[in-house]
Amino acid sequence: MFRDALGLEVTAASQAAVDAFDKTITAYLDFANDTGARLKEALTLDPAFVLAHCFKGYLFHLMGAKALVPRAVKELELAQAGAAHITAREQCHVRALAAWCQLDLQGATAAWEAAIRDNPRDLLAVKMLHFTHFYMGDSQSLRDSVGRVWPAWHEAMPGYGYMLSMRAFGLEETGAYDEALRLGLRAYEINPNDAWAVHAVAHVHDMRDQRVEGLAWLDQTVVSGGTQWHNFRYHLLWHKALVLHEMERYGDVLALYDSAIWDAKSDEYLDLANNTSLLLRLEMAGIGAGERWQALAAKVQGRKDEHLLAFVDTHFMMPLGVAAPDHAAQFLESIDAYMDGADDTYASVAKAVSRDLCAAVRAYQAGHHDACVELLEPVRALVHLIGGSHAQRDVFTEILIEAAIKAGRHTLARSLLYERVSARPKNARAWKRLAYVLRQLGDVDAAMSAMRHAAP
Ligand SMILES: [Fe+2]
Repeated sequence: MFRDALGLEVTAASQAAVDAFDKTITAYLDFANDTGARLKEALTLDPAFVLAHCFKGYLFHLMGAKALVPRAVKELELAQAGAAHITAREQCHVRALAAWCQLDLQGATAAWEAAIRDNPRDLLAVKMLHFTHFYMGDSQSLRDSVGRVWPAWHEAMPGYGYMLSMRAFGLEETGAYDEALRLGLRAYEINPNDAWAVHAVAHVHDMRDQRVEGLAWLDQTVVSGGTQWHNFRYHLLWHKALVLHEMERYGDVLALYDSAIWDAKSDEYLDLANNTSLLLRLEMAGIGAGERWQALAAKVQGRKDEHLLAFVDTHFMMPLGVAAPDHAAQFLESIDAYMDGADDTYASVAKAVSRDLCAAVRAYQAGHHDACVELLEPVRALVHLIGGSHAQRDVFTEILIEAAIKAGRHTLARSLLYERVSARPKNARAWKRLAYVLRQLGDVDAAMSAMRHAAP
């Protein structure tokens, strides 16, 4: 029995293997390109390393591609083969991977929660919980799963900065922006490679409509640094594009998309989600994305039967709806068949909300705005169940607002925009949209007042 950098017992063939695994987890938490190489080193030092096999299985699932699920199952088998003499904590990880291989995110979450209950310093379990709570749309647990171990950590411990950045993001997603900003900045100070810290701070600026600060932060941390980060760098640049979009600098958004966010070779779901939602936002602002939609549709049309994350499917529908209508129809049929036949996390979310959300996106992209409103408006309070952040899911609120306007349902659009400016009084674009709707309703004085709010 050996111990990792945090003092936890690890079953492995040597201390060198455990040290290599520590470096693997650090690389993973840094979003570093060499995570796979580090893991390979740990497994070379100990080919029967149970926790390393679990983590390798996690990585296959984290890629969010159905084709990789059998490879995760293979890692589960390797982990189970060595599971006779492992610790209770390691058994939790094996159970978590087993549940994940059944596409049961609740089961995986329960296993990691058990791990951190007895081992509050299990950084890997905390990070995995951060993923599942995020993609199950549970922002309270996103915050509180870190809270459940928080007092067991202190600044002198290795990895403390990652706890800060996870805590910061959970606080941001639950509206505690001051504390989120403080912890996010401290995490970045401890470790400028912590992309999650950069990300948490970017989200705070976004939610507060602090455009100048948001742009400066991302230029400082991402554009002029962060070259060691893997594709998550695209998501951070997507955040920069969102800032530019809110500033109505649409030409700059498109230029950033073409030069730094679009990656013709990438099939990663987060990249595809970044790309699709950005193009749709541009389209809603009246900026045609042209052939970029075809390029995206080509990437997703072969993945219509995957159904791993509802969040991803709602984004896959965006290019299909506009550039491949036949595929969009087949995609919806595939979702219907899956949710009728399966009993996993995806199926339950599809039944509750994401099937209708996908249909609403398809309707919007097809120009059927009234149908879009009819599908989306009843489920809008449940959209969080698809997972993702407030900033990411905001595209669906924008779709509903634009569909309501285009369908001539101006009082609905007005109420949605009232709601939006009430929550985000500094959001100039929303005030301008509201002014437009008020003019359509003949309320000229109120429109002028809304425009005054939109002024910088
Ligand atoms: Fe984000």
